[in-house]
Amino acid sequence: MTFNRLKQPGASFDPRAVNIPSRGIGPLPTAKTVWAIGGGKGGIGKTLLTSNMAVYLSWINKRVVVVDLDLGGSNLHTSLGVEAPTKTLSDLVLGKTDRIADLLQPTSIRGLQIISGAFDPIGITSLHHAQRTRLIRQIDAIDADFVLLDLGAGTSSSTLDFFLAAERKIILVTPEPTSIENAYRFIKLAFYRMLRAATPSPEARHLIEQAMDLKNAYGIKSPRDLLQEMRRLSPDHGVALEKLMADFSLSLIVNQVRAKSESDIGKSIQLVCERYFGMRVDYMGYLPYDTAVWQSVRRRMPFLIDAPHSIAVTHLESILRNLLKPAGEKR
Ligand SMILES: Nc1ncnc2c1ncn2[C@@H]1O[C@H](COP(=O)(O)OP(=O)(O)OP(=O)(O)O)[C@@H](O)[C@H]1O
Ligand SMILES: [Mg+2]
Repeated sequence: MTFNRLKQPGASFDPRAVNIPSRGIGPLPTAKTVWAIGGGKGGIGKTLLTSNMAVYLSWINKRVVVVDLDLGGSNLHTSLGVEAPTKTLSDLVLGKTDRIADLLQPTSIRGLQIISGAFDPIGITSLHHAQRTRLIRQIDAIDADFVLLDLGAGTSSSTLDFFLAAERKIILVTPEPTSIENAYRFIKLAFYRMLRAATPSPEARHLIEQAMDLKNAYGIKSPRDLLQEMRRLSPDHGVALEKLMADFSLSLIVNQVRAKSESDIGKSIQLVCERYFGMRVDYMGYLPYDTAVWQSVRRRMPFLIDAPHSIAVTHLESILRNLLKPAGEKR
């Protein structure tokens, strides 16, 4: 199935029809960049956002590879109109091939390829540490301008490690309390996991492991508490931990916004993360809840193609302009 065959009257492949910015986004990164899209909760729009961002990046002449890392629940191929992929990640994990490049499949969008996890007999939670590490190394070796990782729901070690391996770590959240709760859990676990992996001292690592247990004996409830406790343990460890925390940053997107005021959750999460986690969170913008969006999903097409004049497209463009700015630049 191709998008051409699926094309609805009025839908268009012409990038000019969706006002793709040829100016004003500044210099784009030249080296390959890996973006991971996570958020903890299922059904919040991770796959939808990944596929549409990928189409957009292809349209601005970037070579893009999307990787479906929702093993066991893969559906990224469907959202890009790719039917029954023949090669999947399990071929790599199970040793049928040792080159990730063998798994690349074209889509009907020029410059956009997919690595599918479809119909995989393996689940993401069953990947061993060595398989995970190998997969991350292989993803890192993909030849492209952008590699986008579509993560599954939950906070499995694999999902967190794939998230942490990306240069741009994108958290997607919807304004619902359940999604917000899951996002905080995801952020906290990923953060502690990063701190533990980057901390060479066994005693400092031990304290981080304690903090990961919510009922820890030190009463550590947040990364800020951990920092205080670490300073008590050793001022040097405290300095090292503070640096790791300050060097970590996330990009935040709010999805399915039904009233403008709901997008305020983006700023709130940003503030909480900065105050209690000591990390930088860049709020990239929001996508409205848009009928045209779910209708495009039904038609198995990215909304960027199926509904180029929808309000969601305008918001997606603004989000991408922010994502494409060099980190630290004022938004
Ligand atoms: N902005 C939006 N407007 C309208 N509908 C939306 C929007 N975002 C998501 N949806 C709806 O939510 C559904 C779920 O989205 P998606 O499959 O991308 O979620 P997910 O986070 O990848 O879920 P999972 O964790 O199960 O893989 C979409 O099929 C679509 O119908
Ligand atoms: Mg998904």
